[in-house]
Amino acid sequence: MRKLLPRVRGLITEHPESGAGMQAVVTLLRSRVAHYNWVGIYLVQGDKLVLEAWDGPEATGHVSIDIGQGICGLAARKKETVVVDDVHSQDEYLACFPETKSEIVVPMLRGEECIGEIDIDSDTPSAFGKDDREFLEEVAQLLVSAYFSL
Ligand code: SME
Repeated sequence: MRKLLPRVRGLITEHPESGAGMQAVVTLLRSRVAHYNWVGIYLVQGDKLVLEAWDGPEATGHVSIDIGQGICGLAARKKETVVVDDVHSQDEYLACFPETKSEIVVPMLRGEECIGEIDIDSDTPSAFGKDDREFLEEVAQLLVSAYFSL
């Protein structure tokens, strides 16, 4: 995964506008990593997470999620990456796609503040490991630095 970081940096440079840049990055991630079946970026707006960019076989119904709800809400509240090996074992889980088996949600942190998150669903059980976490945390930081620094 880390070998994709130069391309992520390149896409950010090529796309000065945040919406286009985030769309380019989610499209890259989904097309280049086989176990990333649906990739989205949610941004915090008030007490909600609002879907900003996504790539996958189909749209999710969860375009706006209360920060009090879902694995997405949990990661935003904890300000920590949440990895779920078996989504059906989690009471908080908000189902989007019947195929999904595991999920990773990586907060986009600006200092102490969570301003959004990267959310990835996989059709493979326990698909996400240390490499995914480290890689995606770096991608999240690149996005924050490029598009959300104060
Ligand atoms: N499963 C997420 C909801 C978003 S979808 O995966 C696209 C959750 O539990 O918060």
